[in-house]
Amino acid sequence: TSSNIGEQGAEFIVVANRLPVDLERLPDGSQRWKHSPGGLVSALEPFLRSRSGAWVGWPGVADVAVDPFEEEGLLLHPVALTNDEVRDYYEGFSNATLWPLYHDVVAPPVFDRSWWDVYVRVNRRFADACAKVAAEGATVWVQDYQLQLVPAMLREQRPDLRIGFFLHIPFPPVELFMQLPWRTEIVRGLLGADLVGFHRPGGAQNFLWLARRLVGLEPSRGAVGVRTRPGVVQVGDRTVRVGAFPISIDSAGLDALARRKDVQQRARQIRADLGHPEKILLGVDRLDYTKGIDVRLNALHELLAENRVDPTKVAMVQLATPSRERVEHYKQMRGDIEQIVGRINGEFGRVGNPVVHYLHQSVDRKELAAFMSAADVMVVTPVRDGMNLVCKEYVACRYDLGGALVLSEFAGAASELTSAFLVNPHDLDGVKNALHAALTVDPAEGRRRMRALRRQVLTHDVDRWARSFLEALGSQPVL
Ligand code: ADP
Ligand code: G6P
Repeated sequence: TSSNIGEQGAEFIVVANRLPVDLERLPDGSQRWKHSPGGLVSALEPFLRSRSGAWVGWPGVADVAVDPFEEEGLLLHPVALTNDEVRDYYEGFSNATLWPLYHDVVAPPVFDRSWWDVYVRVNRRFADACAKVAAEGATVWVQDYQLQLVPAMLREQRPDLRIGFFLHIPFPPVELFMQLPWRTEIVRGLLGADLVGFHRPGGAQNFLWLARRLVGLEPSRGAVGVRTRPGVVQVGDRTVRVGAFPISIDSAGLDALARRKDVQQRARQIRADLGHPEKILLGVDRLDYTKGIDVRLNALHELLAENRVDPTKVAMVQLATPSRERVEHYKQMRGDIEQIVGRINGEFGRVGNPVVHYLHQSVDRKELAAFMSAADVMVVTPVRDGMNLVCKEYVACRYDLGGALVLSEFAGAASELTSAFLVNPHDLDGVKNALHAALTVDPAEGRRRMRALRRQVLTHDVDRWARSFLEALGSQPVL
């Protein structure tokens, strides 16, 4: 029996700012659902679809009320946001305050009191929606920085629930977190959960320190492990656990997709369309200033200018999903990146053969697997990233043990993918050298590295992530 549908309510609920599908309004007035952008949805969707679950989230456009509906076994509960709420809660507090603050203030965070009020109001709406759909004793798994107040708000209404929280982005150093005028409210909000999860032990440790400093609690002092030894803190009569659970991808699914004949055929076609270059470099990101797209382009530009890379032999493809396009920093960065692309092609391209092929577009999974199969060097250079799934996706696609991965030390994935060409994205000479080394790596050495990377990614998939989190939460949902 599917216990998620019906009057008793759902036994297992994911709540995230976004639903896994986004409502798209077409110019002719019609509308359709499409896959939502970003790593949270990429990771959680395959996991939840293979089970019966409910998902509470925003359909991605302002001012639409959509009734709950079922999509391929998943029960979706849309939460409506007005145009002003999208501006103040989503673009404002979530993506112009918390996002830059949690990513090491790589852009200055904006502290706006009216945005905070709307963040509180919208968090309450998500908590109310969960309280309504959750069955007695159900498990609710709250996701990410947009909903940090939901755990405590939900617990107040529904003390019967088991509540987990997972943060998909980095949790910042305490010195940076302390800048936040509403720091105590956020920590209290998270402490409403039974288990608070981060990608890395460092994030968990920072949070425990703040629970002591800001709330006056007495957290455990031992080192938090990866998937083991969570910290504990007593909040009244409740025990809250705080742990590290590095997220991952549907590794086997992507491996199988990459092996398909039509995907390999498409990879050959991409190579031909690019003019059969000797080497193809690839970047795949949301167009976000944390991703260091400018870093890799500047490195390539200098390598070309110094004749260390031959523009007739190398092509770079950058796929960039449009993201948060009304937020000021995103607008600026898009301009900057498009200027660098223009400069490289202006100086080093030929008619019919640009060096950089830049698409401000999103591609489907099959096409993504084909690009990753075609790429000799995958370039992942964020200045800060909670995990980064793109690098894991590349490794999962390379069943042939071909290809090389250049990966920033500042991505959470770097502590797992130690056989990549690891770089400090702030050190441009280092990035150039790593790109050059990856372009010229001896094939046997390349295979050795890729074999080690695959061992890690194939044995640590998203299912293992979810199981380890839910086990630590002590929940027995319909899994
Ligand atoms: P973030 O969650 O910050 O966007 P991640 O690397 O964790 O970063 O996840 C990004 C996800 O979005 C990956 O699954 C990646 O394949 C996908 N993605 C990013 N850019 C594109 C694109 N241009 N086309 C298709 N998928 C993309
Ligand atoms: C990151 C965040 C997610 C977010 C995604 C896409 O992965 O951790 O919470 O959904 O980016 O960003 P968007 O603002 O489009 O939802």
